[in-house]
Amino acid sequence: MEKIVIEGERRLEGRTRINGAKNAALPIMAACILLHGTSRIKGVPNIIDIQTQSEILQKLGGKIKRLDDGALEITFLDGENNDSFTAPYELVSKMRASICVLGPLLSKRRRAKVSYPGGCVIGQRPVDLHIKGLEALGARIETEEGYINATADVLKGTNVSFAGKTVLGTCNVMSAAVLAEGTTTIDYAACEPEVQDLAHFLNKAGAKISGIGESKLTIEGVRELHGIKYEIIPDRIEAGTFMIASAITRGDVTLENIRADHLSAVIEKLKEIGTEVIVTGNEIRVRGTGSYRTTDITTLPYPGMPTDMQAQFMALLCTVEGKSIITEKIFPDRFMHAAELRRMGADIRIEGTSAIVTGTPHLSGTNVQVSDLRAGAGLVLAGLVAKGSTHVHRIYHLDRGYERLEERLSALGAAIKRTEE
Ligand code: EPZ
Repeated sequence: MEKIVIEGERRLEGRTRINGAKNAALPIMAACILLHGTSRIKGVPNIIDIQTQSEILQKLGGKIKRLDDGALEITFLDGENNDSFTAPYELVSKMRASICVLGPLLSKRRRAKVSYPGGCVIGQRPVDLHIKGLEALGARIETEEGYINATADVLKGTNVSFAGKTVLGTCNVMSAAVLAEGTTTIDYAACEPEVQDLAHFLNKAGAKISGIGESKLTIEGVRELHGIKYEIIPDRIEAGTFMIASAITRGDVTLENIRADHLSAVIEKLKEIGTEVIVTGNEIRVRGTGSYRTTDITTLPYPGMPTDMQAQFMALLCTVEGKSIITEKIFPDRFMHAAELRRMGADIRIEGTSAIVTGTPHLSGTNVQVSDLRAGAGLVLAGLVAKGSTHVHRIYHLDRGYERLEERLSALGAAIKRTEE
């Protein structure tokens, strides 16, 4: 096993490029099941979750290749290798997002057997909304031996009204509806940029989806979809993580390949705290001023503050004198990183779904354990500013979502390296 070791108190400076969005790439890769032909997708990051999704798609008859220019080539051909319909436990248990093959499989192959993803460290994570949405389109769904077993003779357009916003649930139902007979409307659809990106991808492949980015989506069923060239949107969470790396080290970092419109909540909050943020086209410069103010943060569906940025903001607020309150509205138990930050000297009290963070003069390096991807990002950020050495263990969680994180932070001036345990 590997760990990351950070010698803190180094100011970051320089430029780095942001990768394509993991959470857009995963459902887009799954949606390739719906297409006949080859797609070339640029900007797919080289991370473990993408490798897991590739393995699942290969089990389902897909051919996947990384091209010399970094693009991912995915081929599914009608009438070839498309009698498999199972996403097995071994792979789904590695990555919950593999649930997003459910809608495409059901739509294209009329049958899907996907291991029940179960809960995870950030909370319960049920899939009842995915199931209700697909049932409304005409699927028959049962749980058998830990698998979601879905079949359909035909999927028919209908109105699906979600009882709560769900990102991958919206992706699944939208993907299933594109080849359904007639028109489907989805009320209370998730509007996250990653959901929008999937809709744009499907439209380019021949689908008819309107209302993209709004909470009501309309999908007119079409007969077929074809392989295309596509470029994934930049990863707003990776961008946000590097923005906080600059802010927390009172640094001066410019990020290339960002979409500022996807980062509004993060930008506003960083400005409110006292960071200088300058957007120029698809670049963003974040300068840490050092004179910071406390703030309150509530995570919300897009365009609100993403839950995937909560741990990183918590690390930053641990260094800001005074009291800040962070309220988690998406995954109420997503505070595993708080206990590890406390080991670094942070003053954090959890009260229900809120964390009360009182800034301390300095954090100090120690051993910390990563519980999930974004918790890990928060701990690395804390390590960048802590006195002494921080040893971050269980970094396989980080490798699921950040490509060469330590190399890129090191190029910006951090004293950070990966070593064997
Ligand atoms: C996506 O997960 C992301 N994953 C998560 O990112 C992200 O934290 C989350 O959306 C929220 O933005 C991917 O895109 C691969 P949800 P998803 O369904 O779609 C409840 C990361 O670190 N719910 O929008 O699974 C659920 O419990 C990951 O990159 C139901 O009740 O999240 C939660 O409270 C972690 N029933 C809320 O909805 C359902 O059927 C939002 O979850 C589905 C969800």
